Amino acid sequence: MGYKGFPFAGLAVSFSIILSTLYSVYGDIGYSIPEEMKEGSVIGNIAKDLGLDVSRLSARKARIDTDGKRKRYCDINLSTGDLIVAARLDREALCGKKPSCVLKLELVLENPLELHRITVHIQDINDNAPVFNKEKIKMEIRESTDKGARFSLDEAHDADIGENGIKGYNLQSNDHFVLNVDTETGGRKHCELVLEKELDREDEQEISFLLTALDGGSPQRSGTVLVQVTVLDANDNAPVFGQAVYKANLPENSPLDTIVVTVSATDADEGVNGEVRYELHHVSEDSNVFSLDEKTGEVKVNGPIDYEEESSYEIRISVTDGLGLASYSTLMIDITDVNDNQPVIYLKSLNDPIQENVSPGTEVGIINVQDADSENNRQVRCSIQQNVPFKLVPSIKNYYSLVTTGQLDRELVSDYNITITATDEGSPPLSSSKSVQLSVADVNDNPPVFEEQSYSAHVTENNKPGSTLCSVTARDPDWRQNGTVIYSLLSGEVNGAPVSSYLSVNGDTGVIHAVRSFDYEQFRSFKVQVMARDNGSPPLSNNVTVSVFITDVNDNSPQILYPAPEGNSFMTELVPKAAHGGSVVSKVIAVDADSGQNAWLSYHIVKSTDPGLFNIGLHSGEIRTQRDISESDSMKQNLIVAVKDNGQPSLSATCAMYLLISDNLAEVPELKDMSHDESNSKLTSYLIIALVSVSTFFLTFIIVILGVRFCRRRKPRLLFDGAVAIPSAYLPPNYAEVDGTGTLRSTYNYDAYLTTGSRTSDFKFVRSYNDNTLPADQTLRKSPTDFADVLQESEGSPEGCSQCRCPPS
Ligand SMILES: *[C@@H]1O[C@H](CO)[C@@H](O)[C@H](O)[C@H]1NC(C)=O
Ligand SMILES: *[C@@H]1O[C@H](CO)[C@@H](O)[C@H](O)[C@H]1NC(C)=O
Ligand SMILES: *[C@@H]1O[C@H](CO)[C@@H](O)[C@H](O)[C@H]1NC(C)=O
Repeated sequence: MGYKGFPFAGLAVSFSIILSTLYSVYGDIGYSIPEEMKEGSVIGNIAKDLGLDVSRLSARKARIDTDGKRKRYCDINLSTGDLIVAARLDREALCGKKPSCVLKLELVLENPLELHRITVHIQDINDNAPVFNKEKIKMEIRESTDKGARFSLDEAHDADIGENGIKGYNLQSNDHFVLNVDTETGGRKHCELVLEKELDREDEQEISFLLTALDGGSPQRSGTVLVQVTVLDANDNAPVFGQAVYKANLPENSPLDTIVVTVSATDADEGVNGEVRYELHHVSEDSNVFSLDEKTGEVKVNGPIDYEEESSYEIRISVTDGLGLASYSTLMIDITDVNDNQPVIYLKSLNDPIQENVSPGTEVGIINVQDADSENNRQVRCSIQQNVPFKLVPSIKNYYSLVTTGQLDRELVSDYNITITATDEGSPPLSSSKSVQLSVADVNDNPPVFEEQSYSAHVTENNKPGSTLCSVTARDPDWRQNGTVIYSLLSGEVNGAPVSSYLSVNGDTGVIHAVRSFDYEQFRSFKVQVMARDNGSPPLSNNVTVSVFITDVNDNSPQILYPAPEGNSFMTELVPKAAHGGSVVSKVIAVDADSGQNAWLSYHIVKSTDPGLFNIGLHSGEIRTQRDISESDSMKQNLIVAVKDNGQPSLSATCAMYLLISDNLAEVPELKDMSHDESNSKLTSYLIIALVSVSTFFLTFIIVILGVRFCRRRKPRLLFDGAVAIPSAYLPPNYAEVDGTGTLRSTYNYDAYLTTGSRTSDFKFVRSYNDNTLPADQTLRKSPTDFADVLQESEGSPEGCSQCRCPPS
């Protein structure tokens, strides 16, 4: 109690003084003190109050006695006579709930024995707080309990009494309960909880608040207890899904039983009330691809998942608790694309076949590429193989144009197998390819081309009309009629006549035929143009030159110019009687229209009146005396001379030479008889006139030459020394013309006629001739024997020159 005890003590002292006065008569005295005074505190001065002598107190053995064996709570200070507190005075312990608590003491004095009763009233002080029996008040209230329901609460106790006892209760403010306190008769307070707002177990499963009991003391004391309300469940809650919408992504082609998502619902209720069962609400057939485990809430793949068919699913799911309360959620499954579709190439159009002359960049076809996948998986790149003259040009969206990149040539490549490859950009990428067959159509872009730059044909003259000369060939690589070659002769003239009268060409085969027989002596070569034309439209053509060379055949017998043929007796030579051996008396002049060997003439005396008298130069035709003329020789000498060419077989002509050994023409009586042949007289006269005039001219020329040679000559030349020259104009047509292949030139012939019979000259002639045509030895070896054969044949023929004129064919 401390200091606070003193005011009470003071109060008690003054109060006790009043009482002492009252009790002193009877020897009793009473005090009133508050409980819980400190030990040693003075309750009152007994000595003074009882009128005792303080100094004698100890002598009289003053002491305090208690009733029975009770504990000594008070004592007396013998030196002061004060009654003091000897032990703790706890009113509650001493008196409990008694409204008044009195401690009865006796003061005993000896000598004389005196007994004084002392009563000490112990006043209550508020030294006890209200106390609840339990630390916690536990209550269970069903959540479905209605508003206004009451629940009694345990009371609190306070050891103090009166004002210091329980005065009231306080409830900690809370959402659901208020406190109601009833005061019973006897002053007991009874308190109860009143449900002011319904409980929700799912909201608050347990509600705790403090209940405070207050006493009325001063200072006031309180005691608290925790009220714990457990809310009991009722099936007042539907299960609830964790999410209003469940979203999941699932790659397509996921295998069966793949777990897509796990849904879960909670039911705030407990037990059966909280048991949930999941269910899928199939809207249509295709949502059967998923299943929902009714217990675990696992959504699994139950069928084929194809993004291309269905890219997302929206499925209602429900959950029900044991008593049938249900709620719903939505399951949204987005299917993600997997690159499981190859690109597909469609050929939308194709210009097949395509003309080979289209310009580069021409569109040939249109290609469309499709990929059923999406995003990158449907991005498709298209390509074409390298070695073809085509490319793909991207057009709108997934369309491509197939375009030529270069010139096409059907003759090189007529068919293309174009492979188009499409690859998507998925990972891994898928690709597909398509081959497109394209053929190139022909255009007549190639003219026929001859295999050779020019053709030449060699044909021997006198060929049969219709004989094959040669053939020309031209090639045209174009197709069908564009490559079909037709040959034809180009019109032109040869020697003034149309070429078609000489040659014809087979239009299909190109074989060239002679239309007629050719005569070397007429012309030796000619050229024609042959055209090869294809059948295209327009046609293309090419020309080639065909040279036809006619080779000589020995078809002309030698033609004797002198003496005049057909035995004209007018042509009589005079031989001077004084002629020496070796003198030239005459000369046989012959020409041959052929050329080369066929025109190389040799002279032979076939028959003579006096075989020993004359001989003839083999090649010069000069007739010489072999010996001096004697008187005995017949005056008329006849010689039959054969002229042979060197052809195979050789042809010959003969003529008669009449020689008259005489110094005077008058001596010849039958000259006139010999001379006349009516039919030929005119021609002969012309011939002679011409011959004489020409001879005269050349004689002058010869004389000059002879003059040069004169010094070397011992013997004087006679009449015909130096031969008779024939002007080239006199020769048959083409006689002296040469085409360069070695036939004799006129100058060579000329030279031959001018030689005077010396063997060296003859040899020289032969050699120069042979240089161009024949091997020298062959000619030389052949000539004697061959000629001999021919001579024998000629001897058998009775006539002279006339028979030799007939042409060989
Ligand atoms: C075209 O080429 C493809 C692939 O190289 C091949 O399979 C096909 O047989 C070819 N077609 C022709 C007609 O050559
Ligand atoms: C020949 O070429 C022409 C164009 O020059 C063309 O029109 C025609 O079709 C071709 N003929 C054949 C058979 O290819
Ligand atoms: C071929 O000759 C004909 C006629 O002379 C001419 O029209 C044509 O152009 C020639 N062809 C060629 C390729 O020279």
